[in-house]
Amino acid sequence: MVRPGLPSRLESLPPYPLAGIPEAKARLAAAGRDVLDLGAGDPGLPVPEVAVEALREAAGRNELQKYAFQRGLPAFRRSIVDFMARRYDVELDPDREVLPLIGSKEGLAHLALAALDPGDTVVIPDPGYAPYFGGPHFADARLETAPLLASNGFLLDPAAIDAARGEPRLVYANYPNNPTGATAELGYVQALLETTARRGGILAYDNAYAEIAFDGYRPPSLTETDGWRENGLEFHSLSKSFNMTGWRLGWVCGGAELIGRLSRVKGFFDTGPYLGIQSAGSAVLDHAEAFLVGQVERLRARRDAAVDALRSVGVEVEAPRATLYLWFRTPAEGSSREFVERLMEQEALLLLPGSGLGAAGEGWVRASLTLPRDGYGEVAARIARAL
Ligand SMILES: Cc1ncc(COP(=O)(O)O)c(C=O)c1O
Repeated sequence: MVRPGLPSRLESLPPYPLAGIPEAKARLAAAGRDVLDLGAGDPGLPVPEVAVEALREAAGRNELQKYAFQRGLPAFRRSIVDFMARRYDVELDPDREVLPLIGSKEGLAHLALAALDPGDTVVIPDPGYAPYFGGPHFADARLETAPLLASNGFLLDPAAIDAARGEPRLVYANYPNNPTGATAELGYVQALLETTARRGGILAYDNAYAEIAFDGYRPPSLTETDGWRENGLEFHSLSKSFNMTGWRLGWVCGGAELIGRLSRVKGFFDTGPYLGIQSAGSAVLDHAEAFLVGQVERLRARRDAAVDALRSVGVEVEAPRATLYLWFRTPAEGSSREFVERLMEQEALLLLPGSGLGAAGEGWVRASLTLPRDGYGEVAARIARAL
C-alpha cells in the first residue's frame, strides 16, 4: 500500500526559523570557515555553580530518577513561588498556581490545545516567537497576526485584539520582546489583559526575558496586574537568565483553573522535566539575585560593544533596554533574507532575517548577543564587507 503524503497540518507548516542554522554551520565549518553564530538566542555563558552542584548531587539520588509527572518537585515549585514573591510581591499557591515546564516553549505551544477549539481565533504578534504560531496551527485555530511596528514601539496594539475576526480566545504577547528588544510598562500589560478579557480570551504573557534588562529598567509581570488569575498565564524560563538553554526548564503561573487545563493537556504529551534538573532549578532560583547581577552586567557590556561596533560601520541600531537581541533595519538593498544569506555565504556570519519571524519582520534583521564583548568588531567588519 502506498503511504499517503504528509498530513495537511505538517504540509502547510513553514520551516522553523532557526531550523537551517545547525546545518549551515556544519557546512561552513567543514569548509574551514570561521563561523560566527549570532542566530539563536543562546548566551553561551556558564550556568550558576549551584546548578552544577545540585545536579551532581541529584544524579545520585534514587528518588529523583522517577517520573516527575506534571506537578514535579515540590522544592522547585516552592522556589518558584518564593522567587515570584521576592520579585513581584505576588503570593502564589505552589500546588495549584505554578507548573514546571520542559522549557517555556513547550508550554506556550501546548497552551493552544488547552485554550482553543478548531476554528477559534488566536492573536499572535508579527514578528513573533514561532511557537505562538506553531501551537495554534496544530490546534487548527484561525490565526490573526498583529503587526509590531517601529512607529508604535513594537507594542502589540490592543486595538488589534478588538479588531480580530471571531472571538479571540487566546492572545500571545511577549515583553521584553524577541525579536525587537522592545519593552513595555505595567499599564500597557494591564490594558492588554483587560482587552483580552473583555473579548473572552486568555492572555499568554511570555516573560522569558524578565531578568535580562539594563539601565535600571525593570520589566513588569502580568502577576502585578489586576485580575490576571482569571484571564492570564505568565511564562518564565531559566534559559536566558541563567544560561540554561539546553537544560530545558521553565514554569508557568496562573489561576488554578487555567494551570489545571494546561497540565491536563501536557499529561498526554510529556511527564515533566527530570527531577534532578528541577532540583538544580530550585537551587538556582534560591540564589538568583546574586547570580543575575553579573549576568546582566556581562550582557550589558556585550550590548554596548555590539551597538558601538555596528554603528561604526553605518548600521543604524537602537540599544535595547532588555533582551539579548539587536534589531535593526536591513542595511543593504534587497530583502532581509537575501542580506542574511549573503552574510552567511560570503562572511560565515549567521544572523536571523526578520521575515523568518513573520511578514512584518521584513526589512529587519536580528542579531543575538552570543559573542563575548570583544567579538563585535569582527562582526561589524563582516557586515561592512557585505553592504
Ligand atoms: C520569546 C521567547 N519565549 C520563550 C522562549 C523559550 O525559552 P525556553 O523554551 O528555552 O524556556 C524563547 C527562546 O528563544 C523566546 O525567545
